[in-house]
Amino acid sequence: MFQLLRLKIKEKLEFFYHKEITVESPSRQRADLAIPLFKLAKQTNKKSIELAEEIKVLLQHEPYLQTLLFERGFLNIFFNRKAFAEKVLTEINKQKAEYGTLKPTGKVVCIDYSSPNIAKNFSVGHLRSTVIGAALYNLYEKRGYQAIGINHLGDWGTQFGKLIVAYNLWGDEELLKRDTIDYLQKLYVKFHQEELKNPEFEEQARKAFKKLEDNDEQSIKLWEHFKELSLIEFKKVYDILGVSFDYYQGESFYNDKMDRIVEILVEKNLLIEDQGALVVRLDNYNLPPALIKRTDGATLYLTRDLAALLYRSENYLFDKILYVVGNEQKLHFQQLKLVSELMDYDFKIEHVNFGLILIDGKKMATRSGKVVNLIDVIDNAIERAYQTIESKNPQLKNKKQVAQAIGISAIVFNDLKNDRNLDIDFDLDQMLSFEGMTGPYLQYSSVRIHSILKDQEIKQAKDLTVFEDDVTYNLILQLSQFSHVLDRSIEENGPHLLSRYLLNLARSFNQFYAAHKIIVETETIRNSYLYLIKATRIVLNEGLRLLGMTALDEM
Ligand code: ARG
Repeated sequence: MFQLLRLKIKEKLEFFYHKEITVESPSRQRADLAIPLFKLAKQTNKKSIELAEEIKVLLQHEPYLQTLLFERGFLNIFFNRKAFAEKVLTEINKQKAEYGTLKPTGKVVCIDYSSPNIAKNFSVGHLRSTVIGAALYNLYEKRGYQAIGINHLGDWGTQFGKLIVAYNLWGDEELLKRDTIDYLQKLYVKFHQEELKNPEFEEQARKAFKKLEDNDEQSIKLWEHFKELSLIEFKKVYDILGVSFDYYQGESFYNDKMDRIVEILVEKNLLIEDQGALVVRLDNYNLPPALIKRTDGATLYLTRDLAALLYRSENYLFDKILYVVGNEQKLHFQQLKLVSELMDYDFKIEHVNFGLILIDGKKMATRSGKVVNLIDVIDNAIERAYQTIESKNPQLKNKKQVAQAIGISAIVFNDLKNDRNLDIDFDLDQMLSFEGMTGPYLQYSSVRIHSILKDQEIKQAKDLTVFEDDVTYNLILQLSQFSHVLDRSIEENGPHLLSRYLLNLARSFNQFYAAHKIIVETETIRNSYLYLIKATRIVLNEGLRLLGMTALDEM
């Protein structure tokens, strides 16, 4: 509603003046909207105060506007609080979870996220991609896009040559059955240790991968088995996080689609031989060459990404494509983008990058073999949440489910609360706290509202005067900005904007609740307040859902 009003005013003035007009939402309470007039005054050769008078006349019949005041070069706009509140709250209470939902726009966004590597543990590192990607998926869908979620599994590449060699040498079927990925990871580590002593291993692994690429039956069988076991483990993580994908199309999916890439590159005269390998030079962009084929003819990560890009554009007809991958792959996505441009495509490619997860201020170990396993971390968070419930609210029903929802929301919100470019600290105690900037704090706010609403009969608000005081009105104003925040989150591919909004919303609710007694004698007043907090809960819960968290009735 807020955004609608803002845009309506903007459009009306732009139509009149034929200039771009800024209509901003100034910091709280100074005004609901403000129009800076300096620039327009220059452009139109009029005095600001004259413009202000002119605009007042132009907007005089706009509903929901109450007062327009010229102050220090700005025209400050104040809404009619009662009418505005009534409109906003009715909309929310009628539309419920659909509030802020846009009808399908016909636009398609491909989101490539999570994409862990087969035969390796799903590390805490892949968690970020999963959580950010899933939130973006929900946000885009909410605003009318068709989102297509793709899990670009790392299921191809030289490492599988290594693994096959290792398994053929030392593999034990029983251990594989029992420990699955953990076991594969151990084999992988062992291979690396042996390789240091015996350089011949490298050549063997290379040959083994070549055999795999040439479709050797025994190799394929083994690889498929590794993949199957890995997927079982990955799906445990996805189930518990409530994340899903439209397609699992890993790197191997493009095996038969890579010749075409090479053909196009040759046709466009882009492919150059460089010490036996085939590359696309990117000197003009001050970047290292993009490796397309290795000396032995094996393809590379980038080649597969190029094939994936074409496949997706042809099959999903995307308007834009997002790659939710860590900062360390920045160069790779620069290269992908540039090579696709050199091939004369103009895809809207965005690398949605993010920082590291730090534990005790240190980067997580991956290569050393001592990997922090995500499923263990999640279980730990849930277990701690369970203990808290046991001590604080032992009578609670469904303790297990509630603990799971709290544990997950702690992890998810810790990831999404800050700009994704920043590294994040992984401190379970802090994440699980019911106070501060945490997922459980938001859940707790929702539960609190539920406990007030429970067993109350709530009708459309009749007494609108209660919405006029600053603290109450501030809460309503925030509710009205939900759609605007969703759009901003999409523009920046930044779920943290929604996270911050929810924290502010919860804070505004708490301020309101501290200032007003809700369950009062006078029925009309009581009902108006209940109507307001019901709307608040709707928005809060929908925000939680979009970020990948579960709202609770009790905790
Ligand atoms: N499997 C890769 C990794 O773990 C991430 C893949 C990201 N997606 C892509 N299309 N390259 O590093």
